[in-house]
Formats: sequence, structure tokens, C-alpha cells
Amino acid sequence: MAEPILSIEDLRVEFDRSEDKVYAVNGVSFQIDPGQALGIVGESGSGKSVTLMSALGLIRENGKVKSGVVQFEGKNLLKMSSRQLEDIRGREIGVIFQDPMTSLNPVMSIGDQIMETMLTHHYAGHREAFDRTIQLLHEMGIPDPKARFKNYPHEFSGGMRQRIMIAIALACEPQLLIADEPTTALDVTVQMQILALLQSQRERKNMSVAIITHDFGVATNFCDKIVVLYAGQVMEMADTSAFIQNPAHPYTLGLKNSIIEVGQRGRKLEPIPGMAPTLTEPPTSCSFADRCPFVTDRCREELPKLRSVESNHLVACHRAEEVLARAN
Ligand SMILES: Nc1ncnc2c1ncn2[C@@H]1O[C@H](COP(=O)(O)OP(=O)(O)O)[C@@H](O)[C@H]1O
Ligand code: SF4
Ligand SMILES: [Mg+2]
Repeated sequence: MAEPILSIEDLRVEFDRSEDKVYAVNGVSFQIDPGQALGIVGESGSGKSVTLMSALGLIRENGKVKSGVVQFEGKNLLKMSSRQLEDIRGREIGVIFQDPMTSLNPVMSIGDQIMETMLTHHYAGHREAFDRTIQLLHEMGIPDPKARFKNYPHEFSGGMRQRIMIAIALACEPQLLIADEPTTALDVTVQMQILALLQSQRERKNMSVAIITHDFGVATNFCDKIVVLYAGQVMEMADTSAFIQNPAHPYTLGLKNSIIEVGQRGRKLEPIPGMAPTLTEPPTSCSFADRCPFVTDRCREELPKLRSVESNHLVACHRAEEVLARAN
């Protein structure tokens, strides 16, 4: 087996607030293999963005990585200087942020922004960077790239801006692309187009992709492997086929049922009743207990460890075997 391109081990991230702390990421571990598309799924606030952004050194000032190892090509990113990380981000790891309007520079033409990425990372000289920008805009499906090069972000639709963000992230041909909710703000048709675009780029370059999404359907359609996060912990991790056939965590069952309901009734229902925990204490019992139809006394007393229930299938639930039997 090839070495993973990215490996996160026991990552813990806390935020200081004036009155208390937020335990946002509580011992998260997973790997991404070369060429693999990994989906990181969970409701809003489950720690998806903080996990990946802290791994890349992009965490707000009140946040602190308390422990963990993040290996990218054999180097621990958490030990790198901000300068070294800046070199890696944009060159070896492309990042697509959630909101293209805040992450694009409003006073710089989109062509210059794509070119700038290549120039600052010494990926190409001026002439080559210009040609590649036109090529990238063309590949991203932006009509008339030469004319649009000089346009500013506000002159594009949301879907087009997202394509420009992807062009910037892909400009230096990264080995790994991290996309944080890349389709959330877009309507369904544009969503599908953007995912198809990412898919074709991935296949052409054998690039690895980590896609953060709260939409379980996006993950099962696009990804080879899925990690489900809840309250800053991995609840389940397996190849996508196992998620479709044998989900073994009650939370995943809820996520899965919610997409079936959306399909059948044509409207979005609240996926799982109840609220996620506030995260102001580190977890000492099952974080999903208050919402879980399988809950027992043990769940409120003992933290379920992530363990193997079948080959390549890890679950953090005391009753995973019963859940598996129920799902089948
Ligand atoms: N700067 C911050 N200060 C305090 N709490 C934060 C900060 N940023 C994120 N959090 C908290 O960390 C948790 C995880 O957030 P995040 O990773 O953004 O969730 P999501 O899964 O929606 O991407 C949430 O409870 C969020 O409120
Ligand atoms: S450990 Fe208990 S409460 Fe937690 S998900 Fe499993 S059955 Fe539900
Ligand atoms: Mg997020």
C-alpha cells in the first residue's frame, strides 16, 4: 500500500472564550491515500472546518492545537513555521474556502488573482502563468476566458466565482485539494456541475481530494471514503460502499435516512431531532447519547472508542453490532 498523502493523528483543538473553552476537535484521526477522494461529513459545528484548517495552520487566534500529528508527505505540518506552511498551501495543497466572495480579492481582476498564485509560488514565469490562467478558465467552463480575465469577482455569478476559486486552488497542480463546502451556496444544478468538474480534474491529475460537506448525498456520490464527525470526534469511517450498505453508527443511520426522505418527499426534513452538545467540556461519554434511539446507561457513562467492526470499517458506538444488524 502506498503511504497516505495526508495523515491526521489524534488532533485536538480548543478555543478560548472569555468565560469558557470550546473543545472543538477531540482526538480526530484519519488518512487520505494518493488519488483518493475523502468526504468529511457532519452537521454544522461538528468540527469539519476546524479539523482541516488547523491542520493547515489556518486557525483563528483564540484557537490552539493542543496535540496531534499532521503528516503531509512525511512532514509534520504542525511543526512547521507559518512561512513553510504558506509555501505548501497553494502549491502542494490547494484549498477552496467556503465563501468565494470573502476569499476572492474584490479589487483585483480574477485573471490576476489566478496568475498571482503561480507567480508567488514560483510555479511559472509571467508568460506561462498568463497562458495557464486562460487554459484554466477554459477548463473551468468560463466562457471567453481572454475577455473575462480582466473582470472583477462581483461581475460573476456565485457558481462562476466558485469555478474561479477552483482555478486558483488548482493553479499550481497540487497533490491534494481541500474543498470546504464547495457547493453549499449553489443551486442543485450548479452543485452537480462543480462536483463533476472536481471529479474530472481529480481523475486527470490523480490528485487527492478532501471534501468537507454537511450533505451526506454529496459525500456518497463523490467520495471513495467517508469520515463522519460529530462533536469534534470521528463517529464512523469506512469506504463509501460500507456507508451505503452497512452504516453502523446511529448518527450515520440518521444522516442516511434524511437523504432518503428528501428524495421521496421532495423536501428537506430536519435530519435528526435534537441538538448537538455545546462542547464546553471534553467528552467523557457518548456525545450523541441525547439524540440516540439506541442509547443505554452505558452510553452516558463510558466514552465509546473508535473500533473496527469489519475490515476497513471503524465505528465509535457501544452498540455498533446491533446497529449493523438493524441496517441490514
Ligand atoms: N474562533 C472560534 N471561537 C470559538 N469557537 C469556535 C471558533 N471557531 C469555531 N468554533 C467552534 O468550533 C466548533 C467546530 O466548528 P467548525 O469546525 O467550524 O464546524 P463545521 O463542522 O460546521 O465546519 C463549533 O462548535 C464552533 O462554534
Ligand atoms: S454509544 Fe450509545 S448513545 Fe452513543 S451512538 Fe452508540 S448506542 Fe447511541
Ligand atoms: Mg465549516
